Amino acid sequence: MCGIIGAIANANVVPVLLEGLLRLEYRGYDSAGLVVTNHGLQRVRTTGRVTELSKLVAQQKTEGFAGIAHTRWATHGEPSERNAHPHFSGEDSRIAVVHNGIIENHEAIRLHLRNKGFEFLSDTDTEVIAHLVAFNLRQVTDLFKAVCMSVAELQGAYAIAVMEEAHPERIIAARNGAPLLIGVGKNGTYVASDTSALLQTTRDIIYLEEGDVAELNSHGYRIVSCLHNQLGEAVHRTIHESNLSNEAIELGPYAHYMQKEIFEQPSAVANTLEMVLNAQSISPNLFGSEAEKIFSKTNHILILACGTSYHAGLVARYWLETVAGMSCNVEIASEYRYRDPIADENTLVIGISQSGETADTLAALSYAKKLGHQHNLAICNVPESALIRQANLRFLTRAGPEIGVASTKAFTTQLASLLLLTVTLAKMRHKLSLGDEQKIIAALRHLPVALQHALQVEPQVKIWAKSFAQKRHALFLGRGVHYPIAMEGALKLKEISYIHAEAYAAGELKHGPLALVDSEMPVVAIAPNDQLLGKLKSNLQEVHARGGELYVFADADSQITQSENLHVIRLAEHAGLLSPILHTIPLQLLAYHVALEKGTDVDKPRNLAKAVTVE
Ligand code: M6R
Repeated sequence: MCGIIGAIANANVVPVLLEGLLRLEYRGYDSAGLVVTNHGLQRVRTTGRVTELSKLVAQQKTEGFAGIAHTRWATHGEPSERNAHPHFSGEDSRIAVVHNGIIENHEAIRLHLRNKGFEFLSDTDTEVIAHLVAFNLRQVTDLFKAVCMSVAELQGAYAIAVMEEAHPERIIAARNGAPLLIGVGKNGTYVASDTSALLQTTRDIIYLEEGDVAELNSHGYRIVSCLHNQLGEAVHRTIHESNLSNEAIELGPYAHYMQKEIFEQPSAVANTLEMVLNAQSISPNLFGSEAEKIFSKTNHILILACGTSYHAGLVARYWLETVAGMSCNVEIASEYRYRDPIADENTLVIGISQSGETADTLAALSYAKKLGHQHNLAICNVPESALIRQANLRFLTRAGPEIGVASTKAFTTQLASLLLLTVTLAKMRHKLSLGDEQKIIAALRHLPVALQHALQVEPQVKIWAKSFAQKRHALFLGRGVHYPIAMEGALKLKEISYIHAEAYAAGELKHGPLALVDSEMPVVAIAPNDQLLGKLKSNLQEVHARGGELYVFADADSQITQSENLHVIRLAEHAGLLSPILHTIPLQLLAYHVALEKGTDVDKPRNLAKAVTVE
């Protein structure tokens, strides 16, 4: 959460900072601010979004050759101008700081600094960093050293950029537990939370590592690692050329990123499956060179994830049990990390995360390792993320940047990867014949086309969306492997339309939630033509008999016909193992169109942010 950018160049950097903040706004959008050096530090902050900040900057004619900027997702202190970054310390020669992350020991440091005479003007943990740097600067008189000393005292996760009024010719940046990268440009040097913010200036990117502190000036940079030594040792970090395309991060002809990302799913899934679509068989090497060795010892899977990624894990459990005969637990990462589970060295722990930055997922994986789980696999969409870096085995979904806060193409590409894993394990455990493997590969080859077909229900979904927009609550029902899809549909609807939506395994209805059913409670059901269809139809009758209004997404061969209070949208014929992936599409479209009807901020729903880097 929170996006930071810094720039130091031979020209006014304000346009670079503002453009970068727009790209980073998905990380938080509670308030925004920047500081530039121009005869002293000039700061502009607002509780509005980046567009508001741009207006203020234009009015105030703010310009400078060096600056740092921030877009906030509030953790400590309400979203207000006072709490917006950058935060200052000092009066004669001020320090300015922007920060992404959480400083866990901020209270102890605050107390110490208050006793030394520092005055705090905000409720944030970030202001503690500004004062701490100022305090240490009194002793070492060099900002770089002062930052190195300060980060050694910080506990928690942070990516920071720091400037000093007396020495505007440099920016100091540091990372620990939150992403930060340097852009090496021809006319300047930059630092930001992600690559998309820097593409406007350069494709030459350095990914800072944990404990790195960097000094940037307009013609270069130096990096030290403060991991083992307070004052750091110089380190070399490789420059990578980013191949992220501009189209991947631009909206193009779409109204929202979520819409773009829903419609990108055929190509996102095709890209993710590229390695297997032309192959005759699926090999363990897809997951890393050690995969075959590790998989051969694996007798249980533990999946750790949050939100939508957790739902992907729940779908995978059905596949792993049914196709690979592999037992599997799926745990919400924020719960797992505080339990006392029993470790087993033959368990493969899988972390699923779009961003690879989710604090709870990262912590749960570290905890699993500490408990004695030897092997882990990351399924992730961001190549340089912390999750990918810390895993033994990895599979990169190739969905391209997902910018809308509601996760869409990340989910379907996670499912595609988890199906590949299922097939791999099933083969190794002799649970899958060559013929069956070929059938699954053929179905996967057809998946992008099938997804394209599923998207064609949009006009019918739009009609349903009009009546949903009038409701305050909704129930989602599914059975078997489609129960997590119902959970995902409910999450999408509540997240972007603010309609209270709950998912139930349809068999659970009569154990309580049926009491909620009346004409004001729309009930969405996922009705694939699988072995549980008969059971589901009985559950739908229970709703119908009580005057409930049903909205059913049915396979063409499910034989459910429309009648009074029973609305049906028909998909293609049952797609077997791929059915949960295809049934996801209309639910995403439903949430999107209900949100449009309600006029909510689809890509930036209230109170949320894309990458949840705090607990
Ligand atoms: O980046 P991750 O996949 O780890 O994110 C996990 C959740 O925060 C995320 O899926 C969240 O639930 C989505 N906004 C849902 O659409």
